[in-house]
Amino acid sequence: MSFSETPHELRVADAVDFLAPKLNPKWQELISGVSVTGVILGSGLGSLAEKIQPQLTIKYGDIPGFASSTASGHRGELIFGTLHGKPVIAMAGRLHRYEGWSNDQVSFPVSVMHALGARRLIASNAAGGLNPNLRVGDIIVLSDHVDWLHQRSASFSSSPKRTGFLRADRPIYRRELIDQALLAARNNSFRAFEGTYLATLGPTYETRAEYRMMRRLGADVVGMSTVPEVLTAASLEMDVLALSVVSNVASPDDAIIADHEEVLQAGDAAAGKLESIVRFVTG
Ligand code: HPA
Repeated sequence: MSFSETPHELRVADAVDFLAPKLNPKWQELISGVSVTGVILGSGLGSLAEKIQPQLTIKYGDIPGFASSTASGHRGELIFGTLHGKPVIAMAGRLHRYEGWSNDQVSFPVSVMHALGARRLIASNAAGGLNPNLRVGDIIVLSDHVDWLHQRSASFSSSPKRTGFLRADRPIYRRELIDQALLAARNNSFRAFEGTYLATLGPTYETRAEYRMMRRLGADVVGMSTVPEVLTAASLEMDVLALSVVSNVASPDDAIIADHEEVLQAGDAAAGKLESIVRFVTG
């Protein structure tokens, strides 16, 4: 049976059967009675992974059902460990639609994290600033998104429970986590704002006309990721926090175009900011 024919839940069970015996009793002890946080480290943000005290690090390609990360700036490893003493399951490097993976494949690791006990997801990415008030290095704490990956029409889950799960009474992005992230930024004296993320398929950056259009649609930042993982987490009723690091600011009236190196560098420079937010939220 091919990847897409095997039901999502059975593939999750296979991955869990493979991973669970590798997690030693120390990890089981660590997570008993405390909440586990899943963390996704996006473009250039992998340096935060160095701060994790690892118990088990494993390449995506070695885990049944995982697609392997190929985008530059992405390590492609799942790390079980502690960050400032709190248990985390971190994806050092994410999977993207523009690499050819489906929404199901991109969000599969979130289902596995959930099955292994994660009840909260912190997703990070590097994004282009559309709001003209933004500066490179600013953090946007997502409170909403525009989904141009058209997740809702994709058959990303075989479970009927997970169709039509968007509920007005349970917003995708948790208010308490947004407020905590903004407070962490204030306490640590760096700029962070609440905003709306627009997800494109990529892999190209936008034309000037596209940047103008996206701003008019009400988005503050644009990127090529995050929404599939966040929607999967929300469907599993995980508490979601998503953070964008502004790696470039669109200036549709100047002849400046975004470039991948610039995006990776901005991610690196902002790793400390993300670390303070993650520490505050999980603390
Ligand atoms: N557009 C889309 N994705 C991005 C950008 C951008 O300008 N910067 C970083 N990721």
